[in-house]
Amino acid sequence: MRLDVITIFPEYLDPLRHALLGKAIEQGRLEVGVHDLRQWATDAHKSVDDSPFGGGPGMVMKPEVWGPALDSVAARESAANLESALPHLNRPRHDELEGVEAQAYAVDATADEDSDLPLLIVPTPTGKPFSQADARAWSNEEHIVFACGRYEGIDQRVVDDAARRYRVREVSIGDYVLIGGEVATLVIAEAVVRLIPGVLGNKRSHEEDSFSDGLLEGPSYTKPREWRGLAVPDVLTSGNHGLVDTWRREQALLRTWQRRPELLEAAELDKDDKAFIAQLEKEANTQGEG
Ligand code: ADE
Repeated sequence: MRLDVITIFPEYLDPLRHALLGKAIEQGRLEVGVHDLRQWATDAHKSVDDSPFGGGPGMVMKPEVWGPALDSVAARESAANLESALPHLNRPRHDELEGVEAQAYAVDATADEDSDLPLLIVPTPTGKPFSQADARAWSNEEHIVFACGRYEGIDQRVVDDAARRYRVREVSIGDYVLIGGEVATLVIAEAVVRLIPGVLGNKRSHEEDSFSDGLLEGPSYTKPREWRGLAVPDVLTSGNHGLVDTWRREQALLRTWQRRPELLEAAELDKDDKAFIAQLEKEANTQGEG
């Protein structure tokens, strides 16, 4: 996979060279290019923004700068590759599993789109919510370009024009407003790259992630069995795998019911899951009455 990021703050993207992404770069599974938008600015001041038509606060990023930047990066004319920050190769990571083959996720084939075109991701608080399903689909892409807007955003014609050369996705990472798209790009890139086959060991290591089956993951514990007067739940040290699986499933259901009940509507629940939730609801109602 190749990731290109266009930004006015290239240093902001430095974390892409570290940890898991740095390792993916070293393994040759990932190339990352970070491009300073100002190299496409044409005036003496290298300005990239201007006041909005119709008035109002803030500045809007200029189409004459973004257009050539996106053309050049789509055509892979602008090389500015990041080197990995650390030598990771041959060093095992804590999150690797041995001996299981890497497998790709199913491809996101949206009808009437040419999947040979690069994917352009424009992080914006007005975008569609980014999800684990997007991360999975995009982990199969060959070339993803991120356009990091600042200020009040990018002139909308840039996005409309880019749709002729790219498959464009305007996405939000949450219902809050950041200063620009850089941090959102880091979030999306990490979520996608860890799912590239071979980067995080294997596909099985993601299958138990929160959201993979529509539920939040339950709590985890390690040694010692007792710490500061708090004991690990007995079932986890019982050696009974069946009981452990049932307990883990119930903890995932409990946590999801407490924290993100709306997820339960879309999750695949069997008869036992439904009975467990019904029991939680019954207990909550009795407590409410008492
Ligand atoms: N840029 C500013 N806020 C953002 C958000 N919430 N998600 C994605 N990009 C953004």
